[in-house]
Amino acid sequence: MSDQPRQTERQIQADGIQAQIDELLGRMTPAEKAGQVTQYFYFRLPAGAAAEPALGMDPDAQPRAVEEALGRGAVGSLLFVTDPAEINRLQRAALAGNRHGIPALFGFDVIHGLRTIFPVPIAMAASWDMETIEQGQAVAAREARAVGIHWAFAPMVDVARDPRWGRIVEGAGEDPFLGAAVAVAQVRGFQGTDYGQEDRIIAGPKHFAGYGAALGGRDYDEVHLSDAELQNTIFPPFKAAVEAGAGNVMTAYMDLNGVPASASRWLFTEVLREGWGFGGFVVSDANAVRNLVTHGFAADLTDAAARAMTAGVDMEMAIQDPAYAHLPEALQAGTAGQDVLDASVRRILEAKLRLGLFGNPYVDEDRAREVLADPRHREVALVAAERSAVLLRNEGNLLPLDPDELASVAVIGPLADSRRDTLGPWVFDFDLSETVSVLDGLRRKVEDRVRVEFAAGIPVVQRVFPSMFDMFGGNRPEDPEDFDAEAEFRRAVDVADGADVAVVVVGEWQNMIGEAASRSSLGLPGRQLELLQAVVGTGTPTVLLVMNGRPLDLRWAAEHVPAILDIWYPGTQGGTAVAKLLFGEVSPSGKLPFSWPRTVGQVPLVYSHTHSHEPQNQGRRYWDEPSTPLFPFGHGLSYGRFSYSDLIVDQPSIPPEGTITVSVQVTNTADRAAAEVVQLYLHQRHGSASRPVRELKGFQRITLSPQASQQVQVRIGPEHRRHWSTTERDWVLDNSIFDLWVGGSSTAELATTFEVTQT
Ligand code: NOJ
Repeated sequence: MSDQPRQTERQIQADGIQAQIDELLGRMTPAEKAGQVTQYFYFRLPAGAAAEPALGMDPDAQPRAVEEALGRGAVGSLLFVTDPAEINRLQRAALAGNRHGIPALFGFDVIHGLRTIFPVPIAMAASWDMETIEQGQAVAAREARAVGIHWAFAPMVDVARDPRWGRIVEGAGEDPFLGAAVAVAQVRGFQGTDYGQEDRIIAGPKHFAGYGAALGGRDYDEVHLSDAELQNTIFPPFKAAVEAGAGNVMTAYMDLNGVPASASRWLFTEVLREGWGFGGFVVSDANAVRNLVTHGFAADLTDAAARAMTAGVDMEMAIQDPAYAHLPEALQAGTAGQDVLDASVRRILEAKLRLGLFGNPYVDEDRAREVLADPRHREVALVAAERSAVLLRNEGNLLPLDPDELASVAVIGPLADSRRDTLGPWVFDFDLSETVSVLDGLRRKVEDRVRVEFAAGIPVVQRVFPSMFDMFGGNRPEDPEDFDAEAEFRRAVDVADGADVAVVVVGEWQNMIGEAASRSSLGLPGRQLELLQAVVGTGTPTVLLVMNGRPLDLRWAAEHVPAILDIWYPGTQGGTAVAKLLFGEVSPSGKLPFSWPRTVGQVPLVYSHTHSHEPQNQGRRYWDEPSTPLFPFGHGLSYGRFSYSDLIVDQPSIPPEGTITVSVQVTNTADRAAAEVVQLYLHQRHGSASRPVRELKGFQRITLSPQASQQVQVRIGPEHRRHWSTTERDWVLDNSIFDLWVGGSSTAELATTFEVTQT
């Protein structure tokens, strides 16, 4: 079919949808409309959880209240149900309770997979591999849609520059350019070209906006950001996600510059809708509308509902007692307009109609089982885990290991044998029986050719303050019974001493990262450093694997451990990928999506700072510690060896609207095939604002056979040089000289310049 008839067909379909919505709106009462804009959690608390101070509620109160609301048509959407039979049951209840036959929309936190668990989002970003990221979210969408989930609360596109903030694990790190590319890949993965198609779901980039900049890295604390920071750093991934067609956007919990983000008309109406042309629907974060009262902003729930709705928040996500149930009162009092509520209901009905839910509200439970078991999904997860690992250090080429030269490997550290931790945070529907831990992966790889001996060495470490996530089954780690910490420590050191190689796994337990998982330090929890030091002290060559979602303090390791591989929380296939990487079946190719600080006192630490005063002292801004990163943004070693040459800019001088093409020759001088992420950084020398010393403006992931060479080209257009200037209080394109670097990290040295001039 040519494009013309297809477009006409789409238009007819869109017109049909609007006519159907008009007809429905004409028949609905204000209370029914309030129901459509209300989303409820649906969960039954596990036994004992009701006593959690974080929840403090009757375990059945929540589902009881929701079922009652479903019965009177007061629910437009549900979240947190993943069982297809249960989804069908609740959908039946929704339809029975709605006299217009409007089905419910089911949403869920499909963050890095549903059943097939992918590496955590920060790891996926470290692959710099947009195809794999897209494929990963396409698999997640397929599994989600099969069980009856229509909408993912993802991607999280908050730029995160403070690793104390636990949710850094959910995003793409510190850089807006990389963040925007990753956001687009994820939206495409979830939605395809249209979320109405088979196996696709709605993507909901979150949390608009600024959530990653919480003061002190403390989750939910207030945020203060200048317009320039918002426009240049925080907004680009959101804007890119919206331009990629994201059907939903979620609000953020905290106060932004003194106003709760979830009630900001500027954010949701002026920037998002009027500025960027967003046509989807906005949902609040959980309880964020009723919490406008808690913030000391709204007077009561009716006021909260009126102000959030008027700001542009179409749907309220609620745990209990939604504020939007008070919308009819607000309409009556004239604090919320009928037209505003109708516009919100319209957007939500449009999503339901585009998804085809009116004709087809239920899922096929047998098909769901088949889709979840699809072995091709595990293949995608394996490739993702291979490509996301970052080789931080490899002194004397200790890696890759040669299985023919090894008789024994010691695998040390409790995380090495923890399937639950291998998966990482933000997973609820996993299958541990098919999850491959590091120990499983290594054992399977070498079979009986190499002796693999495991010792945990130390007990698991508990959080000082547990979070609400610790009440979910298997989320709080536990030691085996009769664990004797001292004896086990000695045993681990003996096992390492007697082996040819020691593989030590350290990091954070998965409940130490994610939402409500901020930290005041970046040290390795518990006695992990001590254990590592004791193992290295035996003289056995040691490989360190880091399981993490944020940079940890690796200063000692970076001096004393020859090989360090960051494996993140690598997902269902994690252990298999790690074994392939350690034994050289694939070369590591990940690159850091953040600057890795030496110590917590340095944060926030970004590569794209400005020169500011005395730039010659940039590395000596503290008297007690270098103020440079331990590992720079974009860093990641390989078993290949890449050299860069022949950096050429096709035009030395261009007008402000002009575009240049940069080309560079990349050669793999090693005797193994490997992938490299070619990175381009830009710096504007002078203009209407001091611009960062370097900013990522292009990248390309390439694979080169031994001794092969490839020319890489990157286009730099006005969109790459445009910035929001505080001087002009607007977007500008300055005339200036630009420095440009190309290489394998943000410290790339191969450089050239070009000029932008009016004449
Ligand atoms: C709160 C989190 O901030 C948000 O990211 C998540 O999607 C919702 N809860 C729903 O679980």
